[in-house]
Parts: sequence; C-alpha cells; structure tokens
Amino acid sequence: MRSARLGLAKGWPARGSLPRVLRRLTPNSFGQAGDGRERALARHVLATTPSGDLDAVIAAIDEFAYQKAHLINVGDEKGAILDAAVRSAEPRRLLELGTYCGYSALRIARVMPPGARLVSIERGAANARIASRILRHAGVAQRVGVVVGRLDDGGATLARLRERHGFAPGALDFAFLDHGKEEYLPDLERILAQGWLRPGSIVVADNIENPGVPDYLRYMRRHQGTLWRTTEHHTHVEYQHQLPDLVLESEYLGIRPD
Ligand SMILES: C[S@@+](CC[C@H](N)C(=O)[O-])C[C@H]1O[C@@H](n2cnc3c(N)ncnc32)[C@H](O)[C@@H]1O
Repeated sequence: MRSARLGLAKGWPARGSLPRVLRRLTPNSFGQAGDGRERALARHVLATTPSGDLDAVIAAIDEFAYQKAHLINVGDEKGAILDAAVRSAEPRRLLELGTYCGYSALRIARVMPPGARLVSIERGAANARIASRILRHAGVAQRVGVVVGRLDDGGATLARLRERHGFAPGALDFAFLDHGKEEYLPDLERILAQGWLRPGSIVVADNIENPGVPDYLRYMRRHQGTLWRTTEHHTHVEYQHQLPDLVLESEYLGIRPD
C-alpha cells in the first residue's frame, strides 16, 4: 500500500516522528501526488477536527502539509496574501481555477463577505470529491460550489457557469488562478471574452515564479496601468521558507489600450 508507506494508513500522529516532504510535488495527470496523500488528508481532517470548525480544518491541513506530506495548496504564507486580497475586494461572486483538496477555497470562504459565493473549478474528479468532503465537513459547502471541468473544454464549463452559477457580464468580482500554469493566460482571456470582469474586479495568480508562469507575468507587466494594475507579492513556495515565489494581485481597469 502506497499510503501505508507514507505512514498514513495507521493514523497520524500516532506513528511518532514523521517524514517531511519538502521537495516540490509534481502532480500526476489526475492532479494528485500518486501516493494517496490527498485521500489520507481527507481522512485525517475528518478524524481530527470538529465538524463545522473552519479554522480547525484549515489548521489541520497546514499541519499535515508541514509534518506529514507536502501538498500543493497555496499554503499559509501565500494564503495570507490571498486572504488580504479577498478581504479588501469585498467580492460577491468569486471564481477559483484549481481546487485540489479545497484548502484555498476554505481560506477564501473564511474571509469573503456573508452572502458571497465561490465557484471552484477542478479538472480532476477525485480531487473534486476530496475537496467537497472537506468543504462539507468545514461547513462551507453552501457557499462554495466545486465544479468538475476546465475552461478549455469547448465551452461546456463556461456554459455551466453562465447557466447554473449566475456568471454574467460584469458579475465576477474576484478570480484566483491556481491551476495548470500554461492555462493561466488562455483562461484569463476566456474570462475576459465572456465579459465577466468589471473595472475593479481582482485576479490573484499563484506560482508566478515557481514553477513559473512567464507569459502571464509578461502580459500583466505589459498592460500595467492600462488594462490592469498589478501588485507583485514576493513570497515563498508553500510550506517552506527557502524557495521564492511570486503572487500577482491584479485589478482589472477595463480600459483596452487599442
Ligand atoms: C496547485 S493545485 C490547486 C491548489 C488549491 N488552489 C489550493 O491552494 O488549495 C492545482 C489543481 O489544479 C487542477 N488543474 C490543473 N489544470 C486544470 C485546469 N485546466 N482546470 C481546472 N483545474 C486544473 C489540478 O488537478 C490540481 O488539483
């Protein structure tokens, strides 16, 4: 059992000293590490935190990622940047691309205003199931919808957002991009083509330096002060304090230069 090799099957922290997996995880084509850690995380969260305790669930996920097995969550350090961006935007309708196990969705739900709704898109059905379990356990499933799909699937997911989740011109206040790095810019263009953003909408993008999204960074720098106003947050890769990373927080200005 791969999960047993990680020490996950017999419970944690009962096994005593735990391995720390500090190297950056490269997810497989299902968006998982391939050793069962995401399912183990869900079991751990459900077993060790009280139902409905959002703070405890977030803390348990961070603890698991630091002490047991690295997770490709936004993490606590970059998560604080995300929290601050959500708080200051006071959004009503939010979109996340890349749910994974639901960690950033939990953080967003914790700080978004009452009445706000987040839709999080995940291409991997197994990850979406894990995230949904954790979100339900944390008591935020009414405010966070997880959709299995991707914006480049020929229009099906875009249509679902329009028809079932109220996405309409000017209706999207906040987006968090944390999915396939080669998809950031094309998916942002898809969102722009739908007209969902309004002047003042905020787009936050993770992992701009590590593993890196150079086309997205170039795009935001090229349109600085015209189409977008971007703040570059210099920070670190999740769950360690050595490797640098960059998070972009971009306000849509809505003025097309041409
Ligand atoms: C870095 S993880 C997201 C972490 C999550 N935002 C968090 O902080 O808790 C990236 C996730 O994006 C998913 N993904 C990759 N490409 C995608 C796409 N084009 N659309 C939606 N999800 C995608 C992967 O399956 C993976 O679960």
